[in-house]
Amino acid sequence: MKKTLIKNGRLIDPSQGIDGAFDLLISGDKIAQVAPQGRTSAADAEIIDAKGMVVSPGFIDMHTHLREPGFEYKETIASGTAAAVSGGFTSVCCMANTDPVNDNASVTDYINRKAHDSGFCRVYPIGAVTKGLKGEELASIAELKTSGCVAISDDGNTLQDGNMMRLALSYAKGFDLPVITHSMDKSLSENGHMNESFMSTKLGIKGIPNAAEDIMIARDIMLAELTGAHVHVAHLSTRQGIRLVKEAKQRGIKVTCEVTPHHFTLTDASLSDYNTNFKMSPPLRSADDVRAIKEALSEKNIFDAIATDHAPHGIIDKEIEFDKAASGIIGLETALPLALALVRDGVLGLDEMIRLFTMGPAGVLGLSGGTLKEGAAADITIFDPDHAWVLDRRRIVSKSKNSPFIDMPLKGRAIKTIVSGKLVFDAMRGQTGVHS
Ligand code: DOR
Ligand code: ZN
Repeated sequence: MKKTLIKNGRLIDPSQGIDGAFDLLISGDKIAQVAPQGRTSAADAEIIDAKGMVVSPGFIDMHTHLREPGFEYKETIASGTAAAVSGGFTSVCCMANTDPVNDNASVTDYINRKAHDSGFCRVYPIGAVTKGLKGEELASIAELKTSGCVAISDDGNTLQDGNMMRLALSYAKGFDLPVITHSMDKSLSENGHMNESFMSTKLGIKGIPNAAEDIMIARDIMLAELTGAHVHVAHLSTRQGIRLVKEAKQRGIKVTCEVTPHHFTLTDASLSDYNTNFKMSPPLRSADDVRAIKEALSEKNIFDAIATDHAPHGIIDKEIEFDKAASGIIGLETALPLALALVRDGVLGLDEMIRLFTMGPAGVLGLSGGTLKEGAAADITIFDPDHAWVLDRRRIVSKSKNSPFIDMPLKGRAIKTIVSGKLVFDAMRGQTGVHS
């Protein structure tokens, strides 16, 4: 069996409370040993020298749009997972808003097959809550579970009907699936294209008030309490939303949440020149909301995951009038440096940042990854926290280039990404082989 020894790195694994000078031995596709530096002997092992690097459980992105089937001009499972591994992710969970929508087993099977044949990392499909994401009729939740979906979500859309949401939660509970919500009350957000603020008035763009998000978060917390189901709030962006989730957690309600790198990095002030690469849903919020997100990250145990909401769009979707442009930005290749900026600013400890990329999302979705425990699958991210680089549009791996961070100086990047013991990305060489 092939052996690889990763030595001289700083190994951080929040699932075992490890942060220190540890070596890691991989045997085949599993983690064989984690031991203090120099104590692991394997004469026949290939050596990876991780001096100056951090060795972490492989990152899991619980919110990715891979766009296949249906929107292959924006992204494919091959190109999206290539972007993922180059950003340090060993697993991505792909949202259901494809064409056809992933609301039945045939679409889930298709995604699984494509991921097996052309994916660079693990792909966990997320099924739809309602057929066609239309909010009218429940999808075949049992079928989605059986074919391998790890959660259900109408992400990109919000299920407006409270009774339908109650039903969905009851079913999902029976199948032990979390329901991931895109919290937005459409009667309040209708025709809005950015955060409602002084900025939206100044720019003449109709705004979306925080209340549109907060009201739906409140509703879904109440329904989680009523049904006993697990609600996961996607891309939480408001101060009041954070308060609601925090209180619900304190009351023992099964609610979890994620934050995106763009929502903790940028504010609606970035929209001053109508650049559609700053348009996403939920929109970039105020400086006070960003402050609240950072406070919550520092406090710990409010956010369960950092998730990218990687949402590739082509030029025809984005290089048009602001109110007609699609919402969303790519995020897989910039998540790590943006999170590391919070570490450098003292908002987060490095171990906490890694928790939010690994055991946090694994815990939300009940995945077995996110750990370097002996016997676990050898999914590993080796990153250089200090590597300075600039996001060059021409070097973006994702098929789409809709990033607000183009030309921005960044610090920190993945150097090697390993899935099931196999090197799938090497910063010196690019993608080095599909994971299958
Ligand atoms: O900005 C977004 N874009 N938010 C979503 O929730 C959906 C996504 C998309 O699919 O483009
Ligand atoms: Zn999304």
